[in-house]
Parts: sequence; structure tokens; C-alpha cells
Amino acid sequence: MGSNFLTLKGWHSPIFRDETKLYLEYVPKDLPHREDTMKKLTYLFWPIISSTGNFSASAWIHGAVGTGKTAVSKKFGFLFEKISKQKSFLLKYIHINCKQKRTGSNVILSILDNLNVTVPSRGLSFQELASILKKILFKKKRYILLVLDEAGYLLKKEGSDIIYSLARLTEEEFNQRPLFSFIFTSKQGRDAFLLDQSTRSSLAPTKIHLPKYNKNELKDILTLRTEEALRKGVIKEEVIDLIAEIASSKGDARYAIELLWKAGKEAEMEDSKEILPSHVHKVNLSIMEPRQYEEINNLPRHEKMVLLAIIKENLSGERKYARIKRIVERYRGICRKYGEEPRSYTRVWQFIKDLQHAGLIEVNRLSEGERGTLKIRVTHEELNSLEGVIKGQLC
Ligand SMILES: Nc1ncnc2c1ncn2[C@@H]1O[C@H](COP(=O)(O)OP(=O)(O)OP(=O)(O)O)[C@@H](O)[C@H]1O
Ligand SMILES: [Mg+2]
Repeated sequence: MGSNFLTLKGWHSPIFRDETKLYLEYVPKDLPHREDTMKKLTYLFWPIISSTGNFSASAWIHGAVGTGKTAVSKKFGFLFEKISKQKSFLLKYIHINCKQKRTGSNVILSILDNLNVTVPSRGLSFQELASILKKILFKKKRYILLVLDEAGYLLKKEGSDIIYSLARLTEEEFNQRPLFSFIFTSKQGRDAFLLDQSTRSSLAPTKIHLPKYNKNELKDILTLRTEEALRKGVIKEEVIDLIAEIASSKGDARYAIELLWKAGKEAEMEDSKEILPSHVHKVNLSIMEPRQYEEINNLPRHEKMVLLAIIKENLSGERKYARIKRIVERYRGICRKYGEEPRSYTRVWQFIKDLQHAGLIEVNRLSEGERGTLKIRVTHEELNSLEGVIKGQLC
């Protein structure tokens, strides 16, 4: 590269036409392989518009990392608000990430913020904030489609009553006329959180499951994204194929897009005119390990040791699945190695359930009943690198 590559005209990447189209917050025009989900949401929520707000609905979208929960709920929210406007119905779509806003008060503050209402900065209680919101909604006569993205974080902290309180917020004033509809998203299904019978029956969110993407689906997603983000001819079909192949072990579109983006940056750095398989392989490692580190870092120490035991079992022998009895034996050995007192069988069982909730392992039942018939598998494909990450954290 010559020394005058940066000129007064600026610099034009030889690889990217518009890099922002690969940013994770970007919602593309089309969401291939999620047309059915959009259709289901439309059937479910359309009566809100057709009854001009005399109806309320809720959906619980669940699926693994990168299956499009956020993208689908955003796309639907934007579209639904737009169509409502065309039908002269005042619906406002509000998207809240509950990983960031984990309390009921923060959720209400975000809703108020979205309605351009500022409240005094002194700490108001949930009830006080709820009553402000009630008045505002009454005054503005606005119907709200509230997306509680990663709802598990809120419900774990506040319990399912929080949803009930929000849903009932306006009932008295509006004579039972609802002013909220909800879309929840989480990695686990609705029943992992909405345990309270009254909440479940009064809201009864319709369950919508997003399956992991297979290789061909990821290829379609990547192909559309390359057209938007990359210059013509800088990536061959076989390289898209390679990225789809790598990401298909996780079924994760985010991983696929991040891989494409970082491989593009690598190509740029190397002053290459195209993205090559070597760029993809190189950045794959640099994405995978920090991600695994983050995922594992927050787990309690004994949960890490149980996970390590499952990995070791999965890696040993020809069977992909581990039995609980063997996991407990391995776990006890690991405890000895790290000078820890092993926890009881019941605690280990709880750790296994927590790891399952976190999406780190899959638990399958071979036959009904006994615990001994469970077969357990770590969801990550790259077990050796995951093992290294955990060992590094246990030292
Ligand atoms: N069907 C699709 N078509 C195009 N892009 C998609 C599709 N599904 C997901 N994506 C893209 O993949 C990335 C990850 O998707 P998204 O953030 O919606 O996943 P998620 O299910 O919310 O994951 P997480 O559980 O980590 O929050 C985003 O950049 C999104 O735009
Ligand atoms: Mg998401």
C-alpha cells in the first residue's frame, strides 16, 4: 500500500461498500427464514388494530443465541407501528432490553422516556412511577406495543407479578380497555419464568419458538448481507459457504455476520482485494475464545467445575452424551484437584439445571422418570477450547 493512500478525497475501503450493514444493531430489510414468524405475529396482533385498541395480545418468542429474536421483534414492532399510523390508530412500539433495565421502575422510566416524558431525577418508587405513566397514557390515549427483550432478566429479579402490574395499569380508568400488548423474548421458553398461575392465565403469551439456523439458511442470510455491505466480487460463494458451515454448528446468525465482518476487516488490514478462507479461519479463533470467556466468567465456581466434568465426559469415549452418574464422579475428581469440598448430589443436580437454563448444555431424557436416564451434552461444538477457557478460570 502506498504512503498516500489517505487523500483529501478520503479513503474508500476495497472490501466494504457500507460496513454499517454488518453492525449487530442493524435490522435488515428482509429476514429470510423468519417469514412464518412474522406471519404468526401478524395474525396474533392484528385484532389490536382492527378493534382500534379494544384487544390485547402477547407473544413469548424463545430460541437460542442469534436465532433472530431481537431482529424479528424489532422488525415487527416498526412495521406494526407504521401500519397502525396508516390506519389512524395511535400505537407506539417501545423496545426495552431487560438485560440493561432489570427492574420494574427502570422499565417504566424507559417507557416514559420513549413517550418524551421527563420525570424528576429523585428516586421515585415503582408505584409512583406507575401512577405517572397511568396519567400520561390516559392523557395521550396511546396504545403501547411493549417488547421486553431478554425478559428473563427482569422476571428473575422482579417475579412474574411485574407483568401483571403493567398489564393492569390502566384497567380502572379505561373501563377494562387495555393499553398494552406484549412481546417477550428469551432464550428459554415462557414456562421457565411465568410460574405464577394468574399471570400465565391472564396474559397467556402465545409461545413462538425460533429454531437454530441450518447451514443453507445461514447462507441465505449471509448472501443478502454481503450484497448490502460488501463491494461486488470481493467474496466468493465458497467463502460464504465456509462461514455458514462454521456458524451452523451453533445455528447462530450473529456469529455468521460477525465472522463475515471481521474477516472483511482482516482482508482490509492485509490489503487483500478479496476475503479469503484464511481470513475467516484467523478471525474465527479471535471471536470464539473471548465469547466463551464471557459466557463462563460469571458462573459460580462449582458450576464451572460441573461444566468441566460434562465437557470431559463428552470428550471421552465415542458417545456424545454424558450420564449424570459419570458426571458426578468426574466432578468429585475435579474438586479434589482444585482443593474444593464437593457439593451434594442435589446441588450438582441444581447446577446442571442452571447450566441448562443458561443454554450451555442440553439435557435429554431417554425414558421417563429416573435421573439416571438423562443424557447431557454441552451445546458448544469446540469443546477443547472451552475446556481450556474453564481451566484457565479455575486456576
Ligand atoms: N433471518 C434473519 N435474516 C437476516 N438477519 C438475521 C436473521 N436472523 C438474525 N439475523 C441477524 O443476526 C444477528 C443476531 O440476531 P438477533 O440479535 O436477533 O438474535 P437473538 O436471537 O436476539 O440473539 P440473543 O439471544 O443473543 O439476543 C443480528 O445482526 C440480526 O440482524
Ligand atoms: Mg437478542
